[in-house]
Amino acid sequence: MIDQSILVLDEGTTSTRAMLFAQDGSQRGVAQAELTQHYPRSGWVEHDAAEIWDKTLACARDMVEQAGGPDRIAAIGITNQRETVVAWDKATGEPLHRAIVWQDRRTADFCAQLKNAGHEDMVRAKTGLLLDPYFSGTKMRWLLDNAPEVAKAAKGGRLALGTVESWLVWKLTRGNSHITDASNASRTMLMALDGEGWDDELCDLLGVPQSALPAIMDCAGELSTTHADLFGAPIPICGMAGDQQSATIGQGCLSPGDTKATYGTGAFVLGNTGTQVPHSQHRMLGTVLYQLGGERHYAIEGAVFVSGSLIKYLRDTLGLIGSAAETEELARSIPDNGGVVIVPALSGLGAPHWRPEARGIISGLGFDTGRAHIARAALEAMAHQTYDLASAFAADGAEWKSLKIDGGMAANEWMAQDIADLLDIEVVRPDFVETTALGAAMLAAVGAGLHASLQDAAAAMIGAAKTFTPGMDDDVRATRLKEWDQALSKV
Ligand code: G3P
Repeated sequence: MIDQSILVLDEGTTSTRAMLFAQDGSQRGVAQAELTQHYPRSGWVEHDAAEIWDKTLACARDMVEQAGGPDRIAAIGITNQRETVVAWDKATGEPLHRAIVWQDRRTADFCAQLKNAGHEDMVRAKTGLLLDPYFSGTKMRWLLDNAPEVAKAAKGGRLALGTVESWLVWKLTRGNSHITDASNASRTMLMALDGEGWDDELCDLLGVPQSALPAIMDCAGELSTTHADLFGAPIPICGMAGDQQSATIGQGCLSPGDTKATYGTGAFVLGNTGTQVPHSQHRMLGTVLYQLGGERHYAIEGAVFVSGSLIKYLRDTLGLIGSAAETEELARSIPDNGGVVIVPALSGLGAPHWRPEARGIISGLGFDTGRAHIARAALEAMAHQTYDLASAFAADGAEWKSLKIDGGMAANEWMAQDIADLLDIEVVRPDFVETTALGAAMLAAVGAGLHASLQDAAAAMIGAAKTFTPGMDDDVRATRLKEWDQALSKV
């Protein structure tokens, strides 16, 4: 029997990657390409869907070649930045507009109108989401109202709307499949958490034609097959999930109460609630964690919009640091933050505040403030944002016993320790931090029948981890929390 690999396509906000995994979860290869970010106006963020596809295909081809050909790939797993909307023409397979990215705030007014008209309770009860521009539904409506090509295609019955995984599957199958999975669908605001298909009332409210939307599938199984021409032979697509759900699976958070935080572009905390539909009373989101054999498992989610993107901003826009890694050294070089606090509301505030109009601040500046203080305050902001989510989870009765962390920023040891210290809980970081891709590999492995269940896949594929133990004095913590709350009140 040939030793087959699992190919994961991990399409994130800032880069697209293809990764090759062995069936024991070890990484065999990776190809990566950066994605261009378009900021046409303040608060607007767009991607070129054609670029996403071209770069995904190039990375995937690299990995298929490295694996030794298409017959060496047992299955493909797809995981993706969620909520980002692509509109394309079913006849030509070409995008009709730039993709509107999850961070984009252009539908804030429309969301406020819907809220003022009294729709939020119904939307929350059905979808677990809030009326915030973050989610896909209002972005789809914006495209129909403002992009003439999209409206024309809708009239002609040629419009396809979807999030990034649907776009990739359409291209991978040359238009044979227009599908999504329940975890991604739960972020659109068009599907009820416990509803099988698209919800008539929600689609009517947002004016989104169901004929343009993909079919909602399980997260694992024989979901589709790539077109033979792309890789030399067809490869089955057997796993699909939004990147935060995928990371939750890759962290082995498979039992109710298990919680993970991913520090990528944004920071996303998901706590498994099992088969019970979550209803937060404290402005957390309810979301589908995964669907297998038609059965849904859910999570409570706290979504923070700015995490690694703050460090990128310090590096690329302000030029304060040369590399992300430098923040660790800078933070360690001083005994405390010198009174400097950063509230990183650069694209509004997400959970638990939900204030799309908010903008960031740096407070407490003095002539003694140096680069190190700013870098340290930036890292401390990650622990503070996590602390606010922990408080909201606890108020919802879902107190964290410990926290599993991952994502690019989790490589920062100082930040990991600061989170443990401020939250006063153990923080556990896997040695292999690519949990998003690993989760998609686990789903694909289950979907291809290589493992019988996600639990079996977790036992076979998840490796060792390091624990950070809390050690902060109570008075230091109290001062930090007070300073943060003061800064937050100025935003
Ligand atoms: O909801 C947005 C999220 O899926 C983006 O993830 O990894 O691109 O920051 P990431």
